[in-house]
Amino acid sequence: MSKSTETGLAELQDLEPSLEEFRASVVEGLSGPEKTLPCKFLYDRHGSRLFDDICNLPEYYPTRTERQILERYAHDIADIVGSKARLVEFGSGAGIKIRLLLKALDRPAAYLPVDISREHLVAASADLAKMFSDLCIAPVCADYTAPFALPELSGVTWDATAGFFPGSTIGNFTRAEAVGFLTGTRALLGSGAVMIVGVDLVKDVDVLRAAYDDGAGVTANFNLNLLRRINRELGGTFELGRFHHEARWNAKLERIEMHLVSLCEQEVIVGTKRFGFSEGEAIHTENSHKYSVEGFRALARDAGWEPLEVWMDERKLFSVHALRTS
Ligand code: AVI
Repeated sequence: MSKSTETGLAELQDLEPSLEEFRASVVEGLSGPEKTLPCKFLYDRHGSRLFDDICNLPEYYPTRTERQILERYAHDIADIVGSKARLVEFGSGAGIKIRLLLKALDRPAAYLPVDISREHLVAASADLAKMFSDLCIAPVCADYTAPFALPELSGVTWDATAGFFPGSTIGNFTRAEAVGFLTGTRALLGSGAVMIVGVDLVKDVDVLRAAYDDGAGVTANFNLNLLRRINRELGGTFELGRFHHEARWNAKLERIEMHLVSLCEQEVIVGTKRFGFSEGEAIHTENSHKYSVEGFRALARDAGWEPLEVWMDERKLFSVHALRTS
């Protein structure tokens, strides 16, 4: 690990998915009877910025509610994590929430932000290094939905390890995927590790729908940006005005689904492949599962984690769970 001399910022470990992987996922997703695209590709540079804008929307309650919970209970969380901890954040984004934890922790040893969006990760890590100059920061650009290794931190020692997975990003997995992800993090973080997970709760459907279909149209733009990305990176011919964003509540699976619905019958080319759309046909781009507290604790147990604590806001909109490897 090579480090900058003025700060503890280590060189980026770059495991970003390749263009070929993106192409293969798009072709596979658009070839099936029900068209889908993996939500991880929503986060190119522009998509990551749009997601940051979503987090500040009045309708999008998860970010500010989780931040309030973290502010209020930061010291309780820090007690559970322990002193001199090595912290691994999955999907670190702009790196705002981690600051609340880092400030509350007793002598944190190292911070490893893992994110699929390389430029965003590099910028956020540099900002954080200025604020926490004694901390070893070792960014990893990777798709954390697939197995990957953590970088070695030479010269750094730690007494505890914690994973941090805020924002209810766990909700973007199906239940089976979430169990698989948490099982994988158990192996990655090692025995005795703690995991802090932000989980959005089931609530009034109108509140949920508004959060995923805001009045200013930022979420619609975020969703449509996936088509813009396919056009730019894969030579696609999507006309964005011929698709519209829809946020649907799937009551059976307790999830909000984002779709891009074709406004007419049309054909789209991606590279050398042609894809036909009928009017009203949708591309399913994201799931955002909502849980009850007990439902999520049961899921964590299925992945071999022992639920310790849960913190919530007064309106019970959002929850933050502490888990330990059992
Ligand atoms: C990143 N993830 C937790 C967000 C969510 O709420 O599912 C992504 C998002 N999609 C639309 N708005 C926000």
